[in-house]
Amino acid sequence: MPKSILAPLKQYLTMLEASGVDVIPAAPVRTGTADKVDPVNHLGALRKTVLQCTKCSELVRTRHQIVFGSGNEKAELVFVGEAPGFDEDQQGLPFVGKAGQLLTKIIESIGLAREEVFICNVLKCRPPQNRNPVPEEIVNCQPFLLKQLELIKPRVICALGSFAAKTLLNSDRSISYLRGRFYEFRGSRLMCTFHPAYLLRNPQDKRKVWEDMKMIRAELGHG
Ligand code: URA
Repeated sequence: MPKSILAPLKQYLTMLEASGVDVIPAAPVRTGTADKVDPVNHLGALRKTVLQCTKCSELVRTRHQIVFGSGNEKAELVFVGEAPGFDEDQQGLPFVGKAGQLLTKIIESIGLAREEVFICNVLKCRPPQNRNPVPEEIVNCQPFLLKQLELIKPRVICALGSFAAKTLLNSDRSISYLRGRFYEFRGSRLMCTFHPAYLLRNPQDKRKVWEDMKMIRAELGHG
């Protein structure tokens, strides 16, 4: 250290001491890698990766936006739907159309606000004309869903409809067969129930969804 700055430095430290400052925290040590975010241990970083995905050539051409998912990153309850529809593709957010409005009511029916849960889909891109996801698309997109669930670590996952249920349970059984009971899923409890879009067409099955939601509410300890 050049001698010329020692005197003013000493003067400065004496002044600090006189005014009661006796500890000067060291500057954070930068190792070169310490500040870098590991791309797989942070939901924001995962979002960045997902938003760059080009794995499904048809969906890349037809989508307007990739729909990562939204809500509480520390949610105790995560809803998993099938794939974005027209409104979701336009807005970049999950379940914002008619089915989404019903999902909001379903969430509120067990005393939770939409912002308290996390909502996402098996596919992050809209299939054209809302056609069903094809197996290759599910295989391509599934690692993103599994990583989301691993990072959020919810107590309960609710699969909405047969695509989400069959994808997570790796099962060919119908949603009518799979719903109504909990499964163990990588440290979370998984409930499958009917998709809200199905309920809009088949309101007579709302009662069964209510039964499933009451089991989720009890599992979360909310009564
Ligand atoms: N249906 C889904 O499965 N997901 C959405 O985001 C919207 C409708």
